[in-house]
Amino acid sequence: MNRWTYDCSHTGPGTLAGRYLRNFWQPVHRIEDLKPGQAKPLRIMSEDYTIYRGQSGKCHVVAPACAHRGVQLSIGWVEGDDIRCRYHGWKYNSAGQCIEQPAERERQFCDKVRIAHYPTVEYHGLVFAYLGEGAPPNFPIFPELEGDGVVETIMYQRNCNLSNMLDNQLDEAHFAFTHRKTLDRIAEIPVITVKRTQYGVASYSERSGLMPRITEFMMPNILRLKIMLYLSEIIPGDGVAWRVPIDDTRQYSFGVNIFAVPKERRQQVIDEQRRLASLPVPPWLDLAEDVLAGQTTIEEVEANLPEHNMLHNVHFEDHVVQQAQGVIADRDNEVLASSDIPVRAIRDLWNETLAVFARDGTVRNAISPPPTIATTGEEKLEMAG
Ligand code: FES
Ligand SMILES: [Fe+2]
Repeated sequence: MNRWTYDCSHTGPGTLAGRYLRNFWQPVHRIEDLKPGQAKPLRIMSEDYTIYRGQSGKCHVVAPACAHRGVQLSIGWVEGDDIRCRYHGWKYNSAGQCIEQPAERERQFCDKVRIAHYPTVEYHGLVFAYLGEGAPPNFPIFPELEGDGVVETIMYQRNCNLSNMLDNQLDEAHFAFTHRKTLDRIAEIPVITVKRTQYGVASYSERSGLMPRITEFMMPNILRLKIMLYLSEIIPGDGVAWRVPIDDTRQYSFGVNIFAVPKERRQQVIDEQRRLASLPVPPWLDLAEDVLAGQTTIEEVEANLPEHNMLHNVHFEDHVVQQAQGVIADRDNEVLASSDIPVRAIRDLWNETLAVFARDGTVRNAISPPPTIATTGEEKLEMAG
């Protein structure tokens, strides 16, 4: 069967999966997309927040609305590391404490007014927030991201439920079809096996004459994989990705990738990377809608784009197929096959983990993830003798 026993499609407040996911540090924004002094509304797991970046450069997450009469705080403005409401000017510090009520000329009562605030950590260009109850766990450090190299930080949106994405994490059988041109280097349909790891499950995909490609999924929403930097040459690196629901119909993917480029070539790679990042980003979400509406095809879209980061093609192709399953996929009528071994393995892991969580609240937080076991699967097998 290998169905989702527990509902991981709904992650709003009070839902089982939502309560589980809130026990982990989750990335919520890319720092470079938030200028010092800028505030934005933020929606994560069907809850609203305000994210703002203080003039010090530090990012803060607080409640969505002012305590006075409920105005959305992101339309206010940032003063130092505080945020001021645009309606009557109440001001809050980054701990959510009200510190000014300028219109209360007779008697201010700031000390009695506080809005929610959430701990944040900034790491490799991403802001992580702890949105759960109680004290946050230690922030997990992935050893593969601690090395020396060129770092790439990714954030993109996909318009479908988290479970569509989780099913895709180790699904190597789709490479040959969904990514038939963009990943044609590893297009052969592999023999796939899976193994449980300390905090998740790893897939081993064997293709003729090549070392197995190994990718690891870690609870609850993390992927550790070898990833490519598409510049004038293709450079392999290590990547960690987090899949974070915006609500039950949309999600963000955040990624940190690191490429071990020799020091003497590093500046050249960084310059190339910057040039690529400065190019206009095609409107991927709209283009996916056009493909799904039958107005164009993936091939036509990709053939007519101006220069852009080729990694986006892989994301776009995945976006189209995952949204095409249905924003919340109908899993009652699916027909699982033997190549779905990784899909079954991730569902089993989630089902087992949430059963334990539902029973006694246990959460296994990987504070010190072991070294990565991911491989590109593109190295040739060494021939015996
Ligand atoms: S609603 Fe924010 S100060 Fe009045
Ligand atoms: Fe894919």
